[in-house]
Amino acid sequence: MEIISKIPVLQERLQPETDIAFVPTMGNLHEGHLALMALAKKRSKCVVASIFVNPMQFGPQEDLAKYPRTLAEDCHKLQAAGVDVVFTPTEQTLYPEPQQVLVEPPPIANELCGAYRPGHFRGVATVVLKLFNIVTPSVAVFGKKDYQQLHVIRSMVRQLNIPVEVVAGETMRAADGLALSSRNGFLSETQRDEAVRLFRNLEFIMHALVSGSRDFAFLENNAKAELEKYGWRVDYFSIRHQHSLSPAQVADTDLVILAACWLGGTRLIDNLEVFLP
Ligand code: PAJ
Repeated sequence: MEIISKIPVLQERLQPETDIAFVPTMGNLHEGHLALMALAKKRSKCVVASIFVNPMQFGPQEDLAKYPRTLAEDCHKLQAAGVDVVFTPTEQTLYPEPQQVLVEPPPIANELCGAYRPGHFRGVATVVLKLFNIVTPSVAVFGKKDYQQLHVIRSMVRQLNIPVEVVAGETMRAADGLALSSRNGFLSETQRDEAVRLFRNLEFIMHALVSGSRDFAFLENNAKAELEKYGWRVDYFSIRHQHSLSPAQVADTDLVILAACWLGGTRLIDNLEVFLP
């Protein structure tokens, strides 16, 4: 496996490749990331991963400075996963001049997480397009864990005619159901045990929907109140249409329940797809 941080060196290495599968990450890799590498490996004989903690997608009050950076361990994991090339640019390499040309994501990027993280998806879309242009993959793999991010990237790829096939990986979870996340490392032991309540509430809503309940507002408020009872601060619990991410309508069959909430100083997000008959 090659670890490359300079754009010209990467481009020279990738020049002979005709079929690249690409997995962008911010590092601090866990089994969720590695499952995406496995998906990429199935799709192409040349797998490129990137590790870059993108300042553009963090708000001024967010956890950019304390975002975990574990490059050496990450590279061991990527090597074991059969990744061919890891791109590890510095901030200076990706943003040598002020980034004034930006990808404006669709209006849905101002809802859900976007309502609480202004500019977040503009930062994500901009860096992902830059990475696509540098790596020139034919396939790019993203996790459903970041459901709204996946939606924004799919929209960008469609509407900007980017010649990349977007492949989605399922959310990998710990044994109790907590979605794996780099931010789980911020949780104390007690908080880690409590954290699964988020997934349990998504499951509760899923069962209610499957049993025929269609009072979306009631289900959302109920989950919010339940979490607040246990000390969480809830940004949102929202039942949406899977493909448009617009608020669910009673006749919709392909739904997704999305949630973001704070446990102490840690913001956790999760979601669950529900397919109704
Ligand atoms: P990061 O949070 O490192 O996630 C990298 C990829 O791993 C994303 O596609 C994310 O959805 C996926 N992922 C995270 N946790 C997962 C889990 N438990 N199961 C499956 N997949 C999971 O998302 C980003 O980085 C950044 O926004 C990025 C796209 C790299 C742009 O900076």
